[in-house]
Amino acid sequence: MSLLNIRNLTVEFATASGAFRAVDSVDLSVDTGEILAIVGETGSGKSVSMLALMGLLPWTARITADALTFGGTDLNKLSPRDRRGIIGKDIAMIFQEPKSSLNPCFTVGFQIKEAPRQHLGMGRRARHQRAIALFEQVGIPVPASQSC
Ligand SMILES: Nc1ncnc2c1ncn2[C@@H]1O[C@H](COP(=O)(O)OP(=O)(O)O)[C@@H](O)[C@H]1O
Ligand SMILES: [Mg+2]
Repeated sequence: MSLLNIRNLTVEFATASGAFRAVDSVDLSVDTGEILAIVGETGSGKSVSMLALMGLLPWTARITADALTFGGTDLNKLSPRDRRGIIGKDIAMIFQEPKSSLNPCFTVGFQIKEAPRQHLGMGRRARHQRAIALFEQVGIPVPASQSC
């Protein structure tokens, strides 16, 4: 069985002028160690397909699929709490536009530290050091003096 198995994934958005089908019957599977690139023109449904998988679409989206499984787990049947145990750890997404992906109400440090807290059970101090190390890696000047 594939690590990721998507069968007949369809996503429709409720709009003022009726249902808009953004994704129509997508099938794909990815095995462990395999890399799959999805290529298509803008608006063809790449992001919406993956956001459906991650459970990150707004409430206006209606997602249907014959299979949406990761490691044998049916992602469509997971509670939000159980889903949070997988998302950000086993399945992650690098968002297209970092400036609009971070929440301006929270420091970047706070948001960076969420994953090690949620998934690795790291303590406050270890999380802080990890965040600083990550900022250093991407060349942010003097990260320890930033409000992270
Ligand atoms: N929240 C939304 N409500 C209604 N339509 C949406 C929403 N998000 C995306 N769409 C539409 O779904 C289609 C697929 O978009 P998207 O998956 O972002 O395309 P891609 O990533 O392939 O460029 C587009 O027509 C887009 O306008
Ligand atoms: Mg996209």
